[in-house]
Amino acid sequence: MKILVTGGLGFIGSHTAVELQQAGFEVVIIDNCSNASESVLDGIEGITGKRPEFVKMDLRDKAAVEDFFSQHPEVDGVIHFAASKAVGESVEKPLLYYENNLGTLVYLLGQLSTRPKAHFIFSSSCTVYGQAEKMPITEDAPVQPAESPYGNTKQVGEEIIRDTCKVTEHLQAIALRYFNPIGAHPSTEIGELPLGVPQNLVPFITQTAAGIRKELSVFGDDYPTPDGTCIRDYIHVVDLARAHVVALQRLLEGKNKANYEVFNIGTGTGSSVLEVIRSFERVSGKPLNYKIVGRRAGDVISAYADTMHANQELGWKAESTLDDAMRSAWDWEKKIRGL
Ligand code: WQD
Repeated sequence: MKILVTGGLGFIGSHTAVELQQAGFEVVIIDNCSNASESVLDGIEGITGKRPEFVKMDLRDKAAVEDFFSQHPEVDGVIHFAASKAVGESVEKPLLYYENNLGTLVYLLGQLSTRPKAHFIFSSSCTVYGQAEKMPITEDAPVQPAESPYGNTKQVGEEIIRDTCKVTEHLQAIALRYFNPIGAHPSTEIGELPLGVPQNLVPFITQTAAGIRKELSVFGDDYPTPDGTCIRDYIHVVDLARAHVVALQRLLEGKNKANYEVFNIGTGTGSSVLEVIRSFERVSGKPLNYKIVGRRAGDVISAYADTMHANQELGWKAESTLDDAMRSAWDWEKKIRGL
C-alpha cells in the first residue's frame, strides 16, 4: 500500500513518513522544498532503513499534480501536510496563503475524486476554535471567525473537504485538528528546522539555550490564568505522527462512521508558558534566559484538547509527557548545533 505524504520533508510530515514506514506502508513524498531540504530524506532513511520515493514538485502546478496521479495509480491514500503555516506572514500575504493552502487542496481532491476509492487525511489545526468558551475543547466547539488568513485556510479547507465528501461517496476523509506540536524524533535524525527567527515557543527556547538567541521574550504574564501566562496543549510530534497512521488505518479498514470525520489531536493537558520553561530547565539542567514583555496580538488565553473522541474512536492517546517532548527538542537542538 503506497501512501502519498505531501509536505513530507517538513516537521510533522517527516515524522509521519517514519511512522508510516514502520507500520509497513510504502511512502512517496511530494515537497517543493520551499521550507525544508531534501536531506531530511537521509534522516528518515537513517531511522527506518528505507528511503521514501521523493518527487520535488509544487502542488500549485495543476498539470504536475495530474501527471503525478496518472503515474501513481497505486497511491490510494494521501496525508496532506503541504501548506504555508506562518500566521504573521499570512496577514501580509493572504493571496499566497489562499492559493497555496486551498488551491492545492482543490487539485488534490479533484484527482482523488476520480479514483474508485480514496483515503485522505487533512492537517488541520486547533486554531479553528479561536478562543473557545469551554476548556478542554471538544470537536463540537464552535468554529470561530479566523484571526488570520492562515487560520481561515484551515477552516475553509475543512469545509472544502466536507462538501466534496458529501457528493463523493468513495472519498473517505479525516481532518486532524492539531494542538501544539513540539519535540523531535528520539533518534535525533529528524526534528524541527524553523527558517529564520522561530515564531513558536519551543524552538525559541532551545535556540536561546544553545546561545543562538539572546533571551526568550515571554509574551505577557497578565492573562487570567494561574501564573498569568497563556496555556496551550503541547503534544510530542511522534505522538502526533502516530495519530495520522491510526486515522489512515481507520479509513483503509472501513471503520469510519462517516466519510468525513474530525478529531482533536492533543495531550488533553494544558501547560502555561512558564510551565514549559520550567520543564525545559528540568530536563536540560540549564536555567533559561527570559524576560516578560507585552502580549502578542492574536494570542488566545487558553487552548487544550478534549481527546475523548480520538481516544475512543481511534484508540489513540498521546504517550509522551511535556518533559519527554522538551528533552527531545533539546537533544535535537544540541545535535544540529554540534553541542
Ligand atoms: C505558544 C505560546 C505565545 C513564542 C501556533 C499557530 C498554530 C499552530 C501552532 C500551525 C503563546 C508564547 C511564543 C515566544 C512566547 N501552528 N510565546 N514567546 O501561537 O499557540 O500556535 O503554532 O498549525 O496555528 O498559531 O504557538 O508556539 O507561537 O505560542 O511567549 O517567543 O508561547 O504567546 O502563548 P501558538 P506558539
